Amino acid sequence: MRITLTVNGATADHEVAPNLLLSELLREHRRLTGVHIGCDTSQCGACNILVDDTCVKACTMLAVQADGARIITIEGLASGEALHPMQVAFREHHGLQCGFCTPGMILSGIAIARRHGTPSAEVIREELDGNLCRCTGYINIVKAIEAGARAMAEA
Ligand code: FES
Ligand code: FES
Repeated sequence: MRITLTVNGATADHEVAPNLLLSELLREHRRLTGVHIGCDTSQCGACNILVDDTCVKACTMLAVQADGARIITIEGLASGEALHPMQVAFREHHGLQCGFCTPGMILSGIAIARRHGTPSAEVIREELDGNLCRCTGYINIVKAIEAGARAMAEA
């Protein structure tokens, strides 16, 4: 099947099998390896991306379901050398250790900020239900999202 995707601002056509996962297309065809595969069973959130501004686990979606969509991955957040405010907040608040969950956490953080403005730590913890981190204990991730949301609101 032939589909068209706009990923991080670049539009291209792809010839794909009907059962190809969106996560596979992004990693294998677009070489966007920031779409991390932690479980492939819809549990960890490491593969999170924005599809038409909605945060989606890329391993839960078929590539053909995204036909015509506008997709943002972790690689598309910065503007040149300037990191997105949520990326800056993760760096400043040490919201990562190994970094494996980080792309998904940052994209979830952006989606949370867009939904809630400047959410409380409690709201952030609830909203992070679909993101697993095996390293940090979440405390600094929650602090980073609080700070990133404030920076987004001020921007
Ligand atoms: Fe998609 Fe874990 S790899 S949710
Ligand atoms: Fe290692 Fe989250 S920082 S899995």
